[in-house]
Amino acid sequence: MRPANRTRQIDNGGYVRNVAKLCAFFLSAFFSFGAFAADSPKESPAGSAALERAPDTMQARVMGCAACHGAHGEGTDNDYFPRLSGKPAGYLYNQLLAFRDGRRKYPPMNYLLAYLPDAYLKQIADYFAGERPPFPPPAPVKVEAKTLDLGKTLVTKGDASRRVPACVSCHGASMTGMEPAIPGLLGLHADYLSAQLGAWRYGTRSTVAPDCMAQVAKLLNDRDITAIAAYLASLPAPADPVPVAAGSLKMPLACGSVHN
Ligand code: HEC
Ligand code: HEC
Repeated sequence: MRPANRTRQIDNGGYVRNVAKLCAFFLSAFFSFGAFAADSPKESPAGSAALERAPDTMQARVMGCAACHGAHGEGTDNDYFPRLSGKPAGYLYNQLLAFRDGRRKYPPMNYLLAYLPDAYLKQIADYFAGERPPFPPPAPVKVEAKTLDLGKTLVTKGDASRRVPACVSCHGASMTGMEPAIPGLLGLHADYLSAQLGAWRYGTRSTVAPDCMAQVAKLLNDRDITAIAAYLASLPAPADPVPVAAGSLKMPLACGSVHN
């Protein structure tokens, strides 16, 4: 039952460790989202001064995201906070909708996206998709060579005997994803990756049907997930991190969140 525990760890461990960051976040959220509520009556003089000072640029709007995702969406050294930058805009938009509407669960994100309109989320997604900060160096590998080998085999070839498709068949030969809605899987921490695969197996992360990733994750056991996460986290940054063109890969399963 390890993946279930991992998933719970995100809620508890991540939560507690980041209380201080969250306080900073709520302060800046006041400025960031203030721009959006600008037509509501400005009751306190202090509030209205703050609103006037806050520039309505995208950088200002996403300031509250930086504590957890980095100023340009590059990620932080927290094991559960993912890199956002350079992922296809359609993918990021789908995730923002999923957090807002409860298909993905992480209380701080569910809370802060609640009530934000689609068009606003779309702009945020476009902003992070267009950012290209450098990738962090891969973390030191903590698993045995044979575990890393199993990860490499599953990612690049899959396992036909268990009908596990190769991850590269949808995420791209160099794992940079495919436009408009399949993410790259590089620059992410092993703990984040295994938590996501565990969440799909146990149904706490889902997306529009047919949910191909739920189908894939349910074919994987704990050992596979540890191996895949360790292998992906060990890969260096790709030379060209741009997602491949829409429709350029022949996907082995249909995915409801992908509209080519
Ligand atoms: C308190 C920390 C925190 C803050 C603040 C925060 N996030 Fe997140 N975000 C997370 C965590 C943790 C996850 C992964 C949750 C999970 O396990 O599903 C996440 C996931 C995401 C994802 C999905 C990434 C992926 O690759 O699937 C997107 C997109 C995202 N956040 C955008 C934002 C935006 C935009 C903001 C600001 C408006 C924001 N986040 C603020 C912690 C945070
Ligand atoms: C049939 C196509 C397909 C295959 C095969 C596939 N994926 Fe995915 N994957 C997707 C799609 C589509 C998404 C986006 C789902 C969503 O919108 O939430 C995704 C998302 C993910 C994510 C979430 C990334 C993040 O930033 O949160 C992970 C992790 C992942 N896939 C891992 C894998 C692994 C590991 C394999 C191989 C065992 C694999 N995928 C095989 C289509 C696929």
